Amino acid sequence: MKNFTTKQQIRQHLQPLRKDGATIGFVPTMGALHQGHLSLIARAKQECDMVVCSIFVNPTQFNDPKDLEKYPRPIEADIQKLEQAGCDVLFNPDVNEIYAGNEQWHLDIGELERLLEGAFRPGHYQGVTQVVFKLFDIVEPDKAFFGQKDFQQVMVINCMIELLKLPVTLVMCPIERESDGLAMSSRNVHLTVDDRRHALILSRTLQQVKDGINTTDIATLKQQAEAAISSEPGVELDYFELVDGNTLHAANQNTAYVVALVAAKVGNTRLIDNMIVR
Ligand code: PAJ
Repeated sequence: MKNFTTKQQIRQHLQPLRKDGATIGFVPTMGALHQGHLSLIARAKQECDMVVCSIFVNPTQFNDPKDLEKYPRPIEADIQKLEQAGCDVLFNPDVNEIYAGNEQWHLDIGELERLLEGAFRPGHYQGVTQVVFKLFDIVEPDKAFFGQKDFQQVMVINCMIELLKLPVTLVMCPIERESDGLAMSSRNVHLTVDDRRHALILSRTLQQVKDGINTTDIATLKQQAEAAISSEPGVELDYFELVDGNTLHAANQNTAYVVALVAAKVGNTRLIDNMIVR
């Protein structure tokens, strides 16, 4: 695997390959890689000739400085995992390579970036679109692979691609879970043994909502889910919503594509999860 830290190096490497007709699959990450990330690499390998992965802990998408500071950065282990997964190119720039200084600009893609996660983490999606726009410009991928784990992020990036008519296709990949249902996340390393047990209420509740979607009305499902999660010790619910997966607006009985989305603090760690329930 090639490992580049500058834009110039990676562009120089990719340009002739692209000219020769190789298709480029891109998996942007913030590192601390787990099976979720590696499933995106595997999918990219299936669909493209070359796979580029970026590891960049993007400061502009963290609204909590403490969260940024304690974000795990096990770069040596990450490199090993990428080698094993058959990734062709790693882009691992430092902050000065990506940002000129105190950049004030951002994209405004409208309400999608202000709902749900956007409401709880103001400015988060502006940081995400800022860095993904820059990374797309550097890598110029044919396809970019994102996880359903961050469902709203997929919608936000898709919206950016459409609005700016960017020449890249986004592929959404399924959520990888631990055997007990917990969605894999780089932040899971912060969970204590007790947190880890309490965190299961999130995936369990999502599954119950999915099981009940055709027999119980949506308002009741939402109420039951909120009650179940709020009564779990050590868990503080931010939101549990059933939404139309095309708009993120509240779903009703007639909505064809329903996604249940949850965010909660478990101990000191904020987790998100979701499930397509119809
Ligand atoms: P990060 O949290 O590292 O996630 C990188 C990619 O891995 C995202 O597309 C995310 O949805 C996916 N992913 C995470 N956990 C997953 C799981 N359990 N199953 C499947 N896919 C999973 O998302 C980001 O980084 C950043 O916001 C980024 C897009 C890199 C911009 O900075």
